[in-house]
Amino acid sequence: MKSAKPYIEKNKERFLDELIELLKIPSISADSAYKKDVLKTAEAVKKQLEKAGCDSVEICETPGYPIVYGEKIIDKKLPTILVYGHYDVQPPDPLDLWDSPPFEPVIKKTKLHPEGAIFARGSCDDKGQMYMHVKALEYMTKTDQLPCNVKFMIEGEEEVGSSSLEWFVTKNKKKLANDVILISDTGMIAKDVPSITTGLRGLSYVEVEVTGPNRDLHSGLYGGAVANPINVLTKMIASLHDKNNHITIPGFYDDVEKLSKKEREKMAEAPFSLENYKKALDIDAVYGEKGYSTNERNSIRPTLDVNGIWGGYIGEGAKTVIASKAFAKISMRLVPNQDWKKITELFKKHFENIAPEGVRVKVKPHHGGQAYVTPIDSLGYKAAEKAYEETFGKTPIPQRSGGSIPIVALFEKELKSKTILMGFGLDSDAIHSPNEHFGIWNYLKGIETIPQFYHYFTELSK
Ligand code: BES
Ligand code: MN
Ligand code: MN
Repeated sequence: MKSAKPYIEKNKERFLDELIELLKIPSISADSAYKKDVLKTAEAVKKQLEKAGCDSVEICETPGYPIVYGEKIIDKKLPTILVYGHYDVQPPDPLDLWDSPPFEPVIKKTKLHPEGAIFARGSCDDKGQMYMHVKALEYMTKTDQLPCNVKFMIEGEEEVGSSSLEWFVTKNKKKLANDVILISDTGMIAKDVPSITTGLRGLSYVEVEVTGPNRDLHSGLYGGAVANPINVLTKMIASLHDKNNHITIPGFYDDVEKLSKKEREKMAEAPFSLENYKKALDIDAVYGEKGYSTNERNSIRPTLDVNGIWGGYIGEGAKTVIASKAFAKISMRLVPNQDWKKITELFKKHFENIAPEGVRVKVKPHHGGQAYVTPIDSLGYKAAEKAYEETFGKTPIPQRSGGSIPIVALFEKELKSKTILMGFGLDSDAIHSPNEHFGIWNYLKGIETIPQFYHYFTELSK
């Protein structure tokens, strides 16, 4: 495979313009007000896949948002790569914290991205990273170098739990048959430290509701005499961690995979500066489970976090009130061997158990998924390693990530193939946050590296 560099250099402006067009469509899957835009994005992705050289592209209807499926089969005897990505994005809120509107992409230079970065919701997660694959395919087809078969499956519900994709995958195993799954929806350690993501955490997401009196009450007339749902909820939440920041739900750690001392030592070799980490986040200290390093806390250990909490009066000025209800959204990140359905049950039982008299508690499970780890001796991993060596001049470091792409574990179960996670984002790209961005350098480096993966995967499969 010839280096894609000259082709990228020649077409760079168009590659950026096309991505910018895609980023202008607010494909927010969580908010039904954007339904039209989500559907419009699927159409746009279809068109681009056709232009990039797919032989056939379909919009596959599902009970939820459609899946864009495209393929180019050149020879049934050759290996098949299945590319997965998502065209939906997270809600951009809070809007006032954005320096420029989330769906009006702009290119700005930053310290880490002196070549410029595209600022827009979805620029890195995952429109930008998904689109690298479309442009890599364009390069290979337009220069007659596609070495194997390729299938694309781009969904519109990743940010809300991929439930339609689960339905689609179980129904279309034959259509989706492949030798390896390739995804760019994660990150790398740094621009000069390429890495391949070898693990994703699982997830259990729940919403809780605490109800006290049957109506909002005057906090003077009733305060101190009835349970205040917000006071109770915060106390219950606080009790979910002990003083060492271990999670107190009985049975929560029962199935947690323990890493050997050697594995932990190996992990600790990855370059990491605690000082820079704190500086980037403006914090004076890190915080977390006793006995584990920062990198362990955010990858190989399970966690429990409140993602949102509400109730009572939050308008201007003061209102003296005891709210009837209080709510919270809670996520638990899980590690290999923990079953997300079992953990959800354990949470529910425990949370109902610790509710004091005077309130009623409801736990509503949302979605979840299993964790994933991929071995580093597979064909796919080796091919990815060689691809990075070619384009970065360095061997990539295997790294387990703290994020989740729940559908990956399902791919392995249903399609029986390994997933290779070639992410090109940086932690500082602010995915899910205001001012999300994706470095132009990273975008183009992805387009350059992906064809090499195709090449080495095909070679190693012989
Ligand atoms: N692309 C992310 C996951 C990710 C990001 C993994 C960076 C590793 C490194 C994905 O779009 C995402 O946000 N997933 C959700 C889970 C989903 C069920 C809502 C997550 O991790 O919160
Ligand atoms: Mn993503
Ligand atoms: Mn995401």
